[in-house]
Amino acid sequence: MQIQVREGAVVDEATGVAVLMHFEGEQLPDAIAGLVEADDATGKLNDTVSLYPRGEIAPTRLVLVGLGARDDLDSDRLRQAAATAIRAVRPFGVSSATVGVPAGLAVDPASVGEALSIGLELGAYRFLRYRTGLSGSETSAVDDVDLVVDGDVDEVAAGVAAGQAIARGVNFARDLVNTPGELKTPPLLAEQAVGIGERHPSVSVTVLDEHELAQQGFGGVLAVGKGSDSPPRFIVMEYGAELTDVPTICVVGKGLTFDSGGLNIKPEEGMLNMKNDMGGGAAVMGTVQAVAELGLPIHLVGLVPSAENMPSGRSFRPGDVITTLSGTTVEILNTDAEGRVILSDGLHYAQRYEPEAIVELSTLTGAVIVALGNHATGVMATDQELADELLAAGQASGDRGWQLPLWDDYRDMVKGEVGDLKNLAGRPAGAITAGAFLAAFVDDVPFAHLDIAGTGWIDDPKRTYLAKGGTGAGVRMVVEFLRRRSA
Ligand code: BES
Ligand code: MN
Ligand code: ZN
Repeated sequence: MQIQVREGAVVDEATGVAVLMHFEGEQLPDAIAGLVEADDATGKLNDTVSLYPRGEIAPTRLVLVGLGARDDLDSDRLRQAAATAIRAVRPFGVSSATVGVPAGLAVDPASVGEALSIGLELGAYRFLRYRTGLSGSETSAVDDVDLVVDGDVDEVAAGVAAGQAIARGVNFARDLVNTPGELKTPPLLAEQAVGIGERHPSVSVTVLDEHELAQQGFGGVLAVGKGSDSPPRFIVMEYGAELTDVPTICVVGKGLTFDSGGLNIKPEEGMLNMKNDMGGGAAVMGTVQAVAELGLPIHLVGLVPSAENMPSGRSFRPGDVITTLSGTTVEILNTDAEGRVILSDGLHYAQRYEPEAIVELSTLTGAVIVALGNHATGVMATDQELADELLAAGQASGDRGWQLPLWDDYRDMVKGEVGDLKNLAGRPAGAITAGAFLAAFVDDVPFAHLDIAGTGWIDDPKRTYLAKGGTGAGVRMVVEFLRRRSA
């Protein structure tokens, strides 16, 4: 989408469709007030009214979008109203629109631009790749938006550019999550990462294949991948290695391209959306892309262990003991607790970069959905400062998290008898014991685990900028965290 920022007033724009955002309980501009019943234009957040001004003002059609009360305005309301706006414009079948915001917003201009562009880009997102026979109005997309603001054009425009870089990262992750498992096997997922490297010369991508994984002892990734006809991969993406005096941060993502459960096979309902089990890996890839587009002064290493968890005569079994990359042995009690097994190798590998912090994202447990639903990512960390930074970044970006504890009591629950660790610790605190298992593979580096099992896929979204399916959860939170770390 092209987004231009200009100064002006929407009512003076000779455009096919204009959108004007307005506050609840405030007078509409004089030119509009006579065109609509005040009771219809409520100004309540996300309420819309479409008008045909018939020459009374310059635009052919005018859509009023409510922002709610002025005092309640924040970035998330701007994101939501922008998403509502772009969706309200879609039925008109036009490819361009003009969008105006009220004067005197309490949010700073760069943040206004960023929130609006994220709302526009995320709200416009649809996954229609596999739909055939749709008519023009069903597939039409608004790909050109003029943002009409009151003053501070340059600052708003800078915010728009940043927001678009972030939103492209989110939508990249959504596309990958929504792609069928058959078409994003570990080798194909790795090709997607290579594609980012080709499009962004500042990102270098290395992919380890199954032979290299065997040579180097990636016992976790190999064990989980054994049952599948598609071999596992380990994806390494690096940005900013040549920069000096910048922090090194590793982001690690679960790239389980389809999780059938393996020999501990999932029931029908449990398997239905398991193409989304690479959502953490997708978030890592989207984050690396966004950071490259933002040009952040940071050394960022993105790691994605990728495998497909399938039942077959070659599958790993309950009772098998595997030796992970770190040398730590793990007794497999349940082949469906596979995410932590592939991530153990990724987390150990991350430490060779001597990072300041390791942030890991995964669709790791059903238990986190029981705890937090779809509304917050489960945040678990070995370092409270790191947890606080991620929670604050989540709050600011609208990609929110909520913390769960990683006390030693939980860490004891994953200690093993036959192996050093066991990959299952029963139902109590299932989200936390999974995090505790991961923490066992990180030595002294501050480590945070983000369980996006609930937030990574949504069937019934409550925010207008989300849609059913993959959400790209984690990209906005982690990019915001990285921006603050690099500032
Ligand atoms: N990928 C699943 C977790 C998941 C569940 C993600 C629902 C998204 C939505 C994970 O590999 C899994 O199967 N976890 C098991 C762990 C259990 C066997 C300890 C679970 O949560 O039931
Ligand atoms: Mn599983
Ligand atoms: Zn899984």
